[in-house]
Formats: sequence, structure tokens, C-alpha cells
Amino acid sequence: MTVRPIRYLGDPVLRRPAKKVSRVDDSIRRLIADMTESMYQAQGVGIAAPQIGVGLRVVVIGMPDEEPFALINPVVIKRSGERRLDEGCLSVPGYRGSLTRSLSVTVKALDEDGREIRVKSEGDLLAQCLEHETDHVNGLLYVDRLDAKTDLVKLEPAGAHVRDQDD
Ligand code: NI
Repeated sequence: MTVRPIRYLGDPVLRRPAKKVSRVDDSIRRLIADMTESMYQAQGVGIAAPQIGVGLRVVVIGMPDEEPFALINPVVIKRSGERRLDEGCLSVPGYRGSLTRSLSVTVKALDEDGREIRVKSEGDLLAQCLEHETDHVNGLLYVDRLDAKTDLVKLEPAGAHVRDQDD
């Protein structure tokens, strides 16, 4: 496993819709291992492949105190309700923003053995993360979803105290 550097806002790889994974093989599983290591190193709870410079539709989610898992070719197939949330991103260090996310989110994806899975969550950090990371593989960042620039807040000093919540 290799920790790879996080790409930051302004890097074009974050803005390109990522490519679908056609075959879940060892190279994808190695990518997942690197993403997992990079996510924990950066103290994130989720990471998408473009955030380490790889334009593939692969996401890793690591909720606090739970086993991390991968979502390959994730698609949000159902969302309902709305809630106002505070959010950050490893690719936008030192900032937090408030935005509207869904209350309930269902994602369809492949797991790292290539089997189809569905993950549903409601009203928690996982539901937020499912939308946030699926946005990443579509070239979207949470800052695109703010209602106004005033919804983005610069942290002092440089976000060190909330980095454990970043996706
Ligand atoms: Ni992010």
C-alpha cells in the first residue's frame, strides 16, 4: 500500500468525470488499498480515486470505528428528503461549507470482488459521504453545491481541528 498525495481544488483531474471501471481486477484492488491508506493518512472518512490523481470511478468510505469499504462505479439510485449540513473535503483543505444534502441515499455499485451491492443510509455521516464521494467521480465538489459564497467558511488555523471529518 502506498500513500499517494491528495490533489487539491484547481487540479483538472478533480473536474473530469471519471471513467467507468470495466473489470474489477488486482490493479483496481491495489488502487483501493492505496486510496484507503491515503484516506487514513489524511484523516478523511471518504476518498475518491480522482483525489489521488486517478480518473476512475472508485470510492472508498471509512466511517469512524468501522471497516472501510470500496464502491466501484457508484450511482445514486434513490435519494429523498433534505437536510442542511456542514461539510469539508480533503481536496479543499482549510475550509468548511454548509449545504443541502439528501436525508436518505441509496447507492448501487460493485464491491472489490466485482459483485453488485447496494448501500442505503439515512440521516447520518454515511448518507452524506455517499453523495459527496459519488459527486467526486462525476467531477463535482461540495463547493459547487453551496447556495452562496458566504456558505464557505475559512478555518483558522488552516482547519487542523476538523480534518477528522473531511471527506
Ligand atoms: Ni471530498
